[in-house]
Amino acid sequence: MDIAELVFDEKELKEVTKDVSVSILVVDDDSSLREFLEIFFKREGYKVFLAESAEEAIQVMAEESIDLVLSDVRLPGMDGVSLLKHIKAQYPSLPVILITAFASMETAVSAMKEGAWDYITKPFNLDELRKVVRQALAASSKPQSFGTSQGEKVYKLGSMIAKSPSMLKVFQLIPRVAQSNSNVLITGESGTGKELVARAIHDLSPRRDKPFIVVNCGGIPENLLESELFGHTKGAFTGAVSEKKGLFALAHHGTIFLDEIGELPPTLQVKLLRVVQNRAFTPLGGTKEIKVDVRIISATNRDLEKEVMEGHFREDLYYRLNVINIHMPPLRERKEDIPVLVQYFLDKYSKEQGKSLQGISSYAMKALMEYPFPGNVRELENIIERSVALSTSNLILPESLSLAQYKSQQNNKHQKQQEDPFKLPPEGIDLDAFLDSIERKLLKQALERTGGVKTEAAKLLGINFRSFRYRLAKHRL
Ligand SMILES: Nc1ncnc2c1ncn2[C@@H]1O[C@H](COP(=O)(O)OP(=O)(O)OP(=O)(O)O)[C@@H](O)[C@H]1O
Ligand SMILES: [Mg+2]
Repeated sequence: MDIAELVFDEKELKEVTKDVSVSILVVDDDSSLREFLEIFFKREGYKVFLAESAEEAIQVMAEESIDLVLSDVRLPGMDGVSLLKHIKAQYPSLPVILITAFASMETAVSAMKEGAWDYITKPFNLDELRKVVRQALAASSKPQSFGTSQGEKVYKLGSMIAKSPSMLKVFQLIPRVAQSNSNVLITGESGTGKELVARAIHDLSPRRDKPFIVVNCGGIPENLLESELFGHTKGAFTGAVSEKKGLFALAHHGTIFLDEIGELPPTLQVKLLRVVQNRAFTPLGGTKEIKVDVRIISATNRDLEKEVMEGHFREDLYYRLNVINIHMPPLRERKEDIPVLVQYFLDKYSKEQGKSLQGISSYAMKALMEYPFPGNVRELENIIERSVALSTSNLILPESLSLAQYKSQQNNKHQKQQEDPFKLPPEGIDLDAFLDSIERKLLKQALERTGGVKTEAAKLLGINFRSFRYRLAKHRL
């Protein structure tokens, strides 16, 4: 890849983030409702297409690029649910919202199972309609793609941005996963975006208006974690002066995100298994079981399968939590995301800090492309935030990246390899004899490696041929 190409300027950035006009197709046999919706959506700034029947809608979709379909369930001929099935087969990522009379609520619920984004009941509330449509579009099942000036695509989903095929796969999976209620386990190194994925799943799910509760299983002391998760009754233990609701109860109807699940102590693994199996738990000190409706998403940066094999994590719990696995690849395995993320963070922090940085020098970008990012995207973000703050020119230069930590790590590694065999023993050494013995060993190794070709061996040792010959003679080699 030509690194110079990776330097964006402001004009290009605008192209990356520009808006595209959004088209809504309204399908209803009631002409007055059609007209009403046409006026309403036009006023909202959308492009509107109308169809009187499912058959006509199919034709419109074949001819026009439609971003959302709003369809009545009851239609003459093919009905709204059959239209939905057709759309899901032909355009799986196209959001469909169904309109239904109160009486056909059941149809609407089964339509949700067929993949409808949502349904609204007649007579509808315009605020609600506006909200549902906006949510469906914002969270549009397909990751929004923007053409860059090089004709390359950058994908955005929730607050995540990416370009690599491996991340596009994750982005495509999220909306589908969001529609189901299955437990999800997100795996991946620290800073790869596991929490962002969990949030995106919640925001795209039918639970999006309900709580999203984050529990850091590794950050809460073991003796507190149980009452945090399940709550306690008054007087359950010393200090329990009043009743307390647990996080599972707070997450009712919503999503609970169990971060660092690998840190969960064995006693709580048993309790969690019960919640996962029965969707019920008993608060500390309590006797009555409380039923909850929660979706469970967990995350870990550990190799949980290995922990199971080693007996540190319950196998039954692991399989129940890992119904759907989403793996976040480390940044060093998707380097094509680096330039896109750099530009994204550069824009974010320049705005935040009131600076007008235009881009990043090609040398600085090259340094980033070669850096292994042990802290993944979070580390890249920190590097850019710091560089923007430190930068005195309108370009980010290699020196303001302060990858010093990396350099010192590299140096340390280097030193360790070299240092250890050269430790000065407490009794001291004969330096000349020691250096001679090392020289002799290295000369021999160089000759062996080059099959006795002296010119090559000299090169390997970084000395000229004359010097090499002289040393060989000295050591009688
Ligand atoms: N694809 C992305 N686009 C934009 N920002 C991202 C992306 N991935 C990660 N980030 C940034 O990196 C930060 C870290 O992400 P997140 O907290 O989701 O990581 P994590 O995998 O949960 O890490 P940990 O295991 O350390 O908790 C986010 O707050 C966000 O700012
Ligand atoms: Mg996290």
